[in-house]
Parts: sequence; C-alpha cells; structure tokens
Amino acid sequence: MLYSLARNLLFQVDPERAHALSLQALTGAARCGLVKPGAPRTVRPRTVMGLSFPNPLGIAAGMDKNAEYLDGLGALGVGFVEVGTVTPRPQLGNPKPRVFRLPEVEGVINRLGFNNNGVDYLLQQVARSGYRGILGINIGKNFDTPLERAVDDYVLALRRVAPHAHYVTVNISSPNTANLRELQGDDALDRLLAALKATQQALADSTGRYVPIALKIAPDLTTAQVEAIARRLLAHRMDAVIATNTTVGRDTVAGHPLASETGGLSGAPLHEAALAVVRTLAHALDGALPIIGVGGITSGARAKAMLEAGASLIQIYTGLIFRGPALVDEILEAIA
Ligand SMILES: Cc1cc2nc3c(=O)[nH]c(=O)nc-3n(C[C@H](O)[C@H](O)[C@H](O)COP(=O)(O)O)c2cc1C
Repeated sequence: MLYSLARNLLFQVDPERAHALSLQALTGAARCGLVKPGAPRTVRPRTVMGLSFPNPLGIAAGMDKNAEYLDGLGALGVGFVEVGTVTPRPQLGNPKPRVFRLPEVEGVINRLGFNNNGVDYLLQQVARSGYRGILGINIGKNFDTPLERAVDDYVLALRRVAPHAHYVTVNISSPNTANLRELQGDDALDRLLAALKATQQALADSTGRYVPIALKIAPDLTTAQVEAIARRLLAHRMDAVIATNTTVGRDTVAGHPLASETGGLSGAPLHEAALAVVRTLAHALDGALPIIGVGGITSGARAKAMLEAGASLIQIYTGLIFRGPALVDEILEAIA
C-alpha cells in the first residue's frame, strides 16, 4: 500500500534517480532504526556452496552496484544480497538516458554499462555497513580493458573482493559491455575459469578460507551452448551458476514503443527464457552444481516456478521496482 503510493511519485522521475531515492530512503530508515537492519527471515533455510542461507531469496546484482545500500537491502528480510558488478577501476558507464521502464509488461531495459566506483570504493562501503548476512560480490571487467586481457581484470578483482565476500560472482553475461559475452565461448571460458580456479585455490591456501565462485550466464544462448558451459563448470570444479542476466531478445515486448531501445531486458518478459535456461542447466548438471535462478520473478508463483525448475536459490531485481518490498513477503510466504 505504502509502496504503491511511493511508486506513483517515483515513476514520475527518471528511473536512475528514482532508484537512488528509494534505496537511500530504505537505508536511511534502517540506519536510524525505523526498520530493523539485517534481519533475515528464516524460511526454508538451506546450505548452498557450503554457506548457510536463512532463506533462498536474494537481491540480484546491479541493484546496489557500489554496496552503498546494504543496510537497507538487508532489512528487507532477504536471505542474501549480491552487490556489484564492480570493476577494478571506477567507470562512468554509458551516456544517459540508459534505463527505461516498461510498466505495461513489468519490464525494464537498461544499458548502464557497469557504471561503478571501482573495487576500492566498494570495499570501503562493505566495511562501514552493518549488514551481517550472506554477501555476494559480483565482478566484471573495465570497458577499456581489451578482451584478450579480460582474465587479468577478473583475477585482480577476485583477489581484492574474496576476503570480504561469502561468494564471488563472475559476470560474463552483461549485454552492455562490448564483446563481454564472447567470454562464454569454449576457449575463452576455459582460460578464464582455469585462472579463476587457480587464484581461488591460492587464496584459500594463504588465508585458510575457501570462497565459492559462481558464474553468471546470459539467457540468449542455445541449448547446446548452455550444455557446453555446464560441462566446463563441472570440469573446472566451479561452485555455482547464476541464470540469467538480462536478454537482448525483444520477442516478448514486440510492438512496445520502447522495445527498440538498446540494452538488456529484464522483468516479466524475461521469465520464460530464464526458466528454460535453468531447466537445461538442471538437466545437464544433475545436482552436481547448485543453480541460482533469476529472471522475471515478479510474484510468489514465479518464485516457486524457478525453484521447481531446479534452482536452489533465487534472486530478484525488476520485480522489486514494480512491486516494492511486499514482493519479498509474497515470495517468502509462497515458498514457505
Ligand atoms: C538496471 C539493472 C542493472 C543491472 N546491473 C547488473 C549488474 O551490474 N551485474 C549483473 O550481473 N546483473 C545486472 N543486472 C541483471 C540482474 O541482476 C538480473 O540478472 C536480471 O535483471 C534478471 O532479473 P530480474 O528480471 O528479476 O530483474 C541488472 C539489471 C537491471 C534491471
């Protein structure tokens, strides 16, 4: 109710401004005690990647790129929060406008392009937050790092963030960084995963703490490509897969006046494609690796569908824009 009033106001302003305003309000409320900070709700708790999740619902990457709103997001009662994508160096991202709401279909198109303040800033924010729940940190490469040197960016970022994260997500599936998704191809993926695994092991040896790594993939892959990625994840003994990122496809929003905006489409129009990737992964992995399902979870029923498709954990982003914090309650009730 409160959110539907706020939403009317928020939807009058530019999406990026509305995003910052609502997260600032939530975090301000958490910090001055209006909402209880860091109170994850215990609903169907589970152990995934060796970590104990109080409930399977998390916040997807991109909502809090710089880890500035952890206290507010934690107060929603979710089981985990993934911050980032963070790149080694700060970067501005693409020119504005670069986020578009499609309210008629509960969708968003964004072409932000990894706008973020860099890994040093993100770690400062993590250190000053009161959030004590499970924290994932999602890493990417800087836009001006050539693809041949992408591995260096990921290794550097992994080294920096791993000591401060419960798990690290490797994002090679954003459509808004030129050629990034080529890293999902056979040889490039092998090189990347081998380097990450070696770094992960070296860090574990020197610190005594093993930090799981999840790979986040796109929805715009053929079944054969998803199966090939699954085989590589197993071969390199990765810890989890996140499916999916936003789609470059527009079939589900054909005819919408904003359909031709460049970028990644998220929300309800992505749901079926994300579910299909999760089903393919579940079949190919056969329980050997956990799947984190994300894409178009805008209701309790859709959260259940994602879990039934084979996800061990789920994440939301666009649904929160349209439904507000009530979506968290609806999902936790539906899956209880
Ligand atoms: C505005 C916006 C920014 C995003 N930024 C990131 C990002 O930085 N890194 C990432 O891995 N995914 C990012 N995503 C993708 C989401 O994490 C998620 O995979 C996708 O939106 C599908 O979930 P949803 O339909 O619940 O939004 C972003 C999504 C949106 C809408």
